[in-house]
Amino acid sequence: MNKTIRWGILGCGRIARKFASDLRLVEDAVLGAVASRDKSNADSFGNEFGAERICYSYEDLVRVSDIDIIYVATPHGLHFEHVMLCLQHHKAVLCEKAFAINAQQAARMIATAKEKKLFLMEALWSKFIPSYQKMMQIIESGRLGKINNVLINFGFIPQPPVAPRIYDPALGGGTLLDIGIYNVFFALSALGKPDAIDAWMTPAATGVDEQCAAIFRYNNGAITQLFSSYSSHLPTEVNISGDKGRLLLGHRFYAPDTTLEFYPGRYDTKQKVEVTKVEGWGYHYEASHAGDCLRKGLTESPVMTHADTLLLMETLDEIRRKAGLRYPVD
Ligand SMILES: NC(=O)c1ccc[n+]([C@@H]2O[C@H](COP(=O)([O-])OP(=O)(O)OC[C@H]3O[C@@H](n4cnc5c(N)ncnc54)[C@H](OP(=O)(O)O)[C@@H]3O)[C@@H](O)[C@H]2O)c1
Repeated sequence: MNKTIRWGILGCGRIARKFASDLRLVEDAVLGAVASRDKSNADSFGNEFGAERICYSYEDLVRVSDIDIIYVATPHGLHFEHVMLCLQHHKAVLCEKAFAINAQQAARMIATAKEKKLFLMEALWSKFIPSYQKMMQIIESGRLGKINNVLINFGFIPQPPVAPRIYDPALGGGTLLDIGIYNVFFALSALGKPDAIDAWMTPAATGVDEQCAAIFRYNNGAITQLFSSYSSHLPTEVNISGDKGRLLLGHRFYAPDTTLEFYPGRYDTKQKVEVTKVEGWGYHYEASHAGDCLRKGLTESPVMTHADTLLLMETLDEIRRKAGLRYPVD
């Protein structure tokens, strides 16, 4: 039997709820403790998901001695503060995306984890789900030929009650770090680091990006076009096209319920690609992987590496620089 991994959850919001639900699907994992700043939220969340201990502050959570790893599920503007709090108290961390506000913060978080020999991973869940792995297999098999373009859209109009983090600059609001990050991650997965980036944005009333468009250019001629929006509902799809074929990841391309279609020729040559069905929301894959890393004594995931996180953050920084999008901490 594997060593049981005891999880803590820091921040009991929307994504924490899905993660806690999926943690029940992970073998040899228990919810050791949860923490919310709000007592009634902590109690209801902790009781619903059977947490062994309920904390009413994040400081109390990081002091719980028998927790192996803490899942940080607060808005990205607070990830630096909360990950550092965990690391200072010798806790391994799985931190939600966006990992930080900028690459400088990310580098400091990673350096601290290294110095303290603690496991730290960005919860880029899409990298662990079957549809993403199938996409990578198809790219690596050469079935698409030389990839010439990647087109990605992700857009929806936030519906009330809108979480404060969506538009608040102090919390890292705006489309890019919330949803555009998936566009960037998938483009980097297909084509690697771009040779040039250009970007534009439409500001919301708070100054964060309500829409963001980015173009990546590669010296081999490939071009990537990425678009994220809070002002229109868009088909949230990826098209990766090469000189031998095109791969379409259908609506919610970043999640397990996407569908994959391969087109070896024109638009009417569709071949459905079979993908393993997923139980739950799909967050158990990353949780299970993080647990395996801890059992092996790793301080870095071999799948979602620190270099992956830094490249993602540096690319987001460059898009923001080109689009004129700044946060108070920049
Ligand atoms: N992987 C995914 O699929 C996915 C999906 C959605 C979101 N996310 C990421 O997960 C993070 C949280 O998103 P969410 O949608 O769960 O947000 P949310 O519903 O607003 O929850 C965030 C939680 O953070 C805590 N928090 C601490 N300080 C806060 C502050 N000053 N303002 C607001 N909340 C504060 C709160 O927990 P307490 O009150 O309980 O302390 C709150 O419930 C973001 O970084 C987001 O990008 C990932």
